[in-house]
Amino acid sequence: MPRFIALLACVASFLSTTACAGLDPDKPTVLITGSNRGIGLEFVKQFSERGWNIIATARKPGEATDLQAITDGYDQLVIEQLDVTDFERVKALQAAYKDQPIDILLSNAGITPKYKSAFKTVSGVDWDMARKSMEVNAIAPLQIAQVFMDNVAASEQKKIVVISSKGGSFAVGPEMPMMYSYRGSKAALNMYMYTLSFETPKKDVILTLLSPGQVNTVPGMKIPNAIETDESVKKMLAVIDGLTPEHNGKFLDYEDGSEIGW
Ligand SMILES: NC(=O)c1ccc[n+]([C@@H]2O[C@H](COP(=O)([O-])OP(=O)(O)OC[C@H]3O[C@@H](n4cnc5c(N)ncnc54)[C@H](OP(=O)(O)O)[C@@H]3O)[C@@H](O)[C@H]2O)c1
Repeated sequence: MPRFIALLACVASFLSTTACAGLDPDKPTVLITGSNRGIGLEFVKQFSERGWNIIATARKPGEATDLQAITDGYDQLVIEQLDVTDFERVKALQAAYKDQPIDILLSNAGITPKYKSAFKTVSGVDWDMARKSMEVNAIAPLQIAQVFMDNVAASEQKKIVVISSKGGSFAVGPEMPMMYSYRGSKAALNMYMYTLSFETPKKDVILTLLSPGQVNTVPGMKIPNAIETDESVKKMLAVIDGLTPEHNGKFLDYEDGSEIGW
């Protein structure tokens, strides 16, 4: 659909007061979940430097001060409330943007274990956290991909990018008992997306999982050998720029886009 028609349709939408406001019909659009901090916030910064339209979702937009600060100097950023586990809200958001092409659907929101709990053995698994991790890290990205698939298919770039983790890989994950809830949920995410990748070519959509590397995202804490968010996101953007249909259904490294084993 021509971008100017999409914008008119967006403006006419009565389901959301913010939907599409400020979006430039001549620019590509990215939707990013978990945009208020960490890697998601850095994606917003770097996409804004590229002049993209950004639909940035956050669980609590009122508390997302760093994200709001970007809107001060940048009109093409719309902040939307979204807890990714709220499927009704996911569908309502899609309804508000039903005619908006989304060039990149970027599922970034995730639950990462706290450093102290990461090394607990099986006797220390928090089962509520295990269930929650499965919901946030695995089920929600699949639901979001399902619901926004046609927005992506209607865009020029047609990319779904999902942030996973080497921790969810049998091939390269740590060979020790750690991060049960996280690793199980990321492995489930990988399989959900791998399975979905057999459907996406029918819509000319490229679906790719990315590992962001080990990234310092806990304020005030520097993990040895970890990189900063700006480096991780800069390199992931280079990988995303280079995605072609042959990368559909692949799990790629942030550093150089090389393939990671499942
Ligand atoms: N940092 C790393 O070294 C690393 C390594 C491998 C993979 N990853 C993956 O990269 C992604 C981003 O990681 P990060 O380090 O930037 O994490 P982070 O700093 O902990 O930020 C997580 C983001 O996800 C959001 N989120 C959590 N639960 C949510 C929910 N139910 N609904 C909506 N948003 C929710 C958080 O929102 P709130 O502020 O509201 O909680 C926050 O915006 C995650 O998928 C993570 O697993 C990170």
